[in-house]
Amino acid sequence: MRKLAHASVLLAAIAVACSSSSSKTDDTANEPASVTFAAPFLWGSASAGFQVEKNLPPTDWGAWVATPGKIKGGDDPNKGGADALAHIDEDVALLVASGQNAYRFSIEWARLYPTRAAFDADQVDMAAVASYDKLFAALRNAKITPLVTMQHFALPAYLSDPSKSTEPQGWERPETGELFGTWCKRVASRWGGEVDWWATINEPLVNPIAGYIQGSFPPGLLLNVDRALTAGRGEARAHAKCYDGIKAGDTKDVDGDGKPSMVGIVHNTPAIEPDARVRYVNNQWILNAIVRGDWDDDFDGNYDGPKDKRADPDLIGRSDYLGINYYSALIASVNGIQIPTVNAGIRQDHLPTDRPKTDFHWDIHPKGFRVILDEAKVYGLPVVITENGIADSNDTNRGRFLLEHLYELGRAKADGMDIRGYFYWSLLDNFEWASGFCPRFGLHSVDRVTGARVARPSVQIYAKVARTGVITKDDIAAQPPYAPPAYCD
Ligand code: FCB
Repeated sequence: MRKLAHASVLLAAIAVACSSSSSKTDDTANEPASVTFAAPFLWGSASAGFQVEKNLPPTDWGAWVATPGKIKGGDDPNKGGADALAHIDEDVALLVASGQNAYRFSIEWARLYPTRAAFDADQVDMAAVASYDKLFAALRNAKITPLVTMQHFALPAYLSDPSKSTEPQGWERPETGELFGTWCKRVASRWGGEVDWWATINEPLVNPIAGYIQGSFPPGLLLNVDRALTAGRGEARAHAKCYDGIKAGDTKDVDGDGKPSMVGIVHNTPAIEPDARVRYVNNQWILNAIVRGDWDDDFDGNYDGPKDKRADPDLIGRSDYLGINYYSALIASVNGIQIPTVNAGIRQDHLPTDRPKTDFHWDIHPKGFRVILDEAKVYGLPVVITENGIADSNDTNRGRFLLEHLYELGRAKADGMDIRGYFYWSLLDNFEWASGFCPRFGLHSVDRVTGARVARPSVQIYAKVARTGVITKDDIAAQPPYAPPAYCD
């Protein structure tokens, strides 16, 4: 992620003695000629409210955007972009036209409850409810399965305010987790008749790293390891509260599988090389907590600390599936800024490898996808790929990227992994956090001024896969080799 990677970024990776997980590499000669995803399978694309909506009531991200120098080019999602709530029918038509049967989006806490008083009194903003009702109705009519994210980076300003960053903000405060449980229960009660697939928090480790170590996300602290770990702990516990809230709120089984809800977290798991300590902190720590209830309070890779606990009843079993985001490789490196007690760093852009790069300076590394799927397999849960995509404004590389990654996914599925769906990031070009509108991830381009959507050619490649469920080696070979990226910075 760019959020992790503007420079050499240090992760609060405490020295941990833990085993390295194996990476599977196969000889090309042994690879099957094709892979198949049998129905039912969720073929969709993903988005997030702050990245595609306009005029969100006050949030920490809104304050961050308004702070000079924080967003590349001074870009502002209120002054351009997709304006998705004003284009609901059009965007659902784009999903249908490209053969997709699923859509991941977030419901924004600040939109439903713009003030703390409104939240406390449970006075929901009815215009906001009407917008989301409209989206749900459009999806239902088009037979598109929603996967709803309860929190995708932005928090209401009354819970997280970067102008008060000397005090605990957001997930650092236990109260946020408590309120989040209530938020999740209310949303699940209101829309449980529309939704079976729920995601609690998007990329819970990104906020601590980008917000407290790197300083590129609110609250914008630099190298504050202690507060980063507090925020990370808060997110793990908030996830469990949200899980319980959804289970209490959503009693309606929409798809008839006998379960009213499937609840998971959306976890960012890059293919980390070569440092097992960093892999543990970033990829495994939170899953150990919310799946097994194993609480490693000091992030040291074992469970013998004074606050550590095994099988914590407040955490264990709070995952019906794993939401996995995979984009790229990440290299653990000790160069860069050195800070006391931290002896590992990470970087995800400008890697010194010979792999092809995206417009966002990330490595294109489909084999790494299989590596992280193998890492996730140990938890024994169904998996949904909640994000995978490429910044590629010329659309020269997106087709090959998609097919190569889906081929690896298909192989993991053929080897017995219970993979339920794949969501491409993203349906539309959107506001890429601290990088503004610069990287173009969309299957459809968006004119920043008019909001006009235009399908990129690669959408047809995705549509064919979504309609047939088949990817062949010949399909991949028919794609041009990766072209040099069109860096936008
Ligand atoms: C992920 C985020 C998503 C988007 C993509 C490119 O880390 O979840 O919002 O920014 O990266």
